[in-house]
Amino acid sequence: MNKTAKLDIDGHIYELPLIEGTEGEKALDVGRLRAQSGYITLDPAFANTGACQSAISFIDGELGTLRYRGIDIAELCEKSTFMEVSYLLIYGHLPGEEEYTRFKEKVHHHSLIHEDMKSFFTSYPGHAHPMAILSAMVCSLSVYHPELLQPEQSDEDRDQTITHLLSKVRVLAAFAYKRSVGEAFVYTRPELDYLSNFMHMMFTTPMRPFEPDEVIRKALDVLFILHADHEQNCSTSTVRMVGSSKANLFAALSAGICALWGPLHGGANQAVIEMLESIHASGSGTKRYVDMAKDKGNHFKLMGFGHRVYKKYDPRAAIIKKYCDQVLNHLGIDNPILEIAKELEEAALTDDYFIERQLYPNVDFYSGIIYRALKIPTNMFTVMFALGRLPGWIAHWKELVEDPGMKIARPRQIYTGSREQQYLPIDER
Ligand code: SDX
Repeated sequence: MNKTAKLDIDGHIYELPLIEGTEGEKALDVGRLRAQSGYITLDPAFANTGACQSAISFIDGELGTLRYRGIDIAELCEKSTFMEVSYLLIYGHLPGEEEYTRFKEKVHHHSLIHEDMKSFFTSYPGHAHPMAILSAMVCSLSVYHPELLQPEQSDEDRDQTITHLLSKVRVLAAFAYKRSVGEAFVYTRPELDYLSNFMHMMFTTPMRPFEPDEVIRKALDVLFILHADHEQNCSTSTVRMVGSSKANLFAALSAGICALWGPLHGGANQAVIEMLESIHASGSGTKRYVDMAKDKGNHFKLMGFGHRVYKKYDPRAAIIKKYCDQVLNHLGIDNPILEIAKELEEAALTDDYFIERQLYPNVDFYSGIIYRALKIPTNMFTVMFALGRLPGWIAHWKELVEDPGMKIARPRQIYTGSREQQYLPIDER
């Protein structure tokens, strides 16, 4: 017998079904509330609203837990690879040997974009932000794959769409970088793995080929695994919203990239480094910035701190912080920015303002320090986040479009504007 909750409105009792998830998360199903009572719920920014039921990721914000298809991220970072985690998120299970080989071969096979697209990049000014280029290019990619745009896709076509985008988005990102530095575009090499090929496309020049480095490859693999999915965050919810109109995956991903760009979301990793560098340049230490972040009189926030769901240390930040030390030591880099980040973390975590509001470092706080050590330019940091989040966005789109009960997302509102009024001719206003 399904449990219900009773809602008393003006003496009329409405029974609403209660739902419980695999890990004990509880919800009130209000799907019939308006039809029964004429009332809707109001929850700006959806802080208390579940948009869907999903089997992809589980977050326990109170415990600081993140699992992909039930497997803890720490175990995946230690034992898996970004390509294998992409398969796990998208297809729901760890691939067998043959499945994995075939998946990697298909992704590698789709590494070329139409040669005509190269001229699109040179039409942008050199200072164009790569997130603007990436979102435009992902949507533009669709014109070369008309066979993959129909609203109802066979499983095979859906897999084709997925492997095309998994493979090509990193090519578009690397080409956007090459355009920004005025260097020739570089194509993938068959002997390199997915992420080593991305770094090869970014950093190989005619004078010096990119030399894979196992410590760097592992650190990048871990970074991408940690960014791969995060249930119903702003950009993933955007992908699901766009996908719910039966728009194609190219359009949905392009929209997700735009949502991620914001400094409150994926754009925070760029904002963190800019904040740390201004602290370093000011020479005034971290206390002034901690005080500014507490001062309601200004808009300054400690970028890379706080989270809508995590009320504990973001488990991803803890792992990234460990790899920060490892990568900088391996490269012999003594970056004062890392010490400033640690000092800022220490100052905040012992300050009542942050303790009371349960504000801890999030995934964006340390990631930029590693990207900087890998010589990735600051304006490419959010592109790195987008490349990591790609399999998660794809997994959620696939879960949505394969749901036989899928409906177009269309929230309601509470109207607060003028009551009915007549049109006034301009000479009477
Ligand atoms: C990501 O959702 C996801 O899963 C996202 C993500 C993913 O993987 O997809 O995890 C990736 O986007 C991480 C977040 C990156 N953004 C930042 O680091 C930007 C800085 N952080 C804040 O803007 C903020 O913490 C948010 C946006 C992350 C969360 O905002 P909420 O949940 O709306 O919290 P809030 O703004 O209501 O803050 C609650 C209180 C407020 O103070 P009071 O009004 O109660 O006095 O905490 C304060 C806020 O002013 N606060 C901060 C702060 N974050 C919150 N004060 C100073 N510095 C901060 N960073």
